[in-house]
Amino acid sequence: MVEVAAASAAPERHIVVRPLRPADVASLESLIRSVENFSPAEMACAVELVELAAGPPPGADDYKVLVAETSAGGPPVGYACFGPTPMTRSTWDLYWIAVAPSVRGAGCGRTLHAEVERAVRAAGGRRLRVETSSKQDYDATCRFYQRVGYLPAGRVERFYADDDDLLILICEVKD
Ligand SMILES: CC(C)(COP(=O)(O)OP(=O)(O)OC[C@H]1O[C@@H](n2cnc3c(N)ncnc32)[C@H](O)[C@@H]1OP(=O)(O)O)[C@@H](O)C(=O)NCCC(=O)NCCS
Repeated sequence: MVEVAAASAAPERHIVVRPLRPADVASLESLIRSVENFSPAEMACAVELVELAAGPPPGADDYKVLVAETSAGGPPVGYACFGPTPMTRSTWDLYWIAVAPSVRGAGCGRTLHAEVERAVRAAGGRRLRVETSSKQDYDATCRFYQRVGYLPAGRVERFYADDDDLLILICEVKD
């Protein structure tokens, strides 16, 4: 578990990142359903991966979840879901990362991502891959990824739809 002061949060509201507990599943579902740029299909997929991560192996081996909450208590304010990329030696996928709208811009996403990197490194991983959409809805998200260390690694035109390309981003995990 790690505790970091959120830059612009009230002093009593430190961000605490900890492993998933089975009891988190319902509150993470509420958090996921509050994310404005997730489509219903994306929400369903994100919830399914949290359920797999909270269950027995092989789901829990394939999908890891870290949860962010504030030291003031209350439900999770953020989470990240990631896992080893099949058939690679040291590449991991960051499947989802989301922060509750009420605490965005205060360092929670960066703190979560740093803990994802720490967990990946501890497991022998060397890089994280993100696949995202080229749609304007995801511009802010792409700026977040860039700020935490991702570089563009590929683009597949019209992958999701005629007006929606697949963007592949890679973050080399820091030592
Ligand atoms: C992307 C997201 C996780 C960022 O979380 P956050 O807690 O607001 O991010 P942080 O406050 O830790 O910001 C980290 C860095 O990213 C930058 N950043 C974050 N949101 C940004 C935005 N909307 N526009 C530009 N830059 C942004 C910050 O300026 C900061 O950079 P700095 O530390 O160098 O100043 C959050 O906005 C979110 O949940 N978005 C909706 C869900 C989503 O799209 N998830 C990703 C796809 S799975």
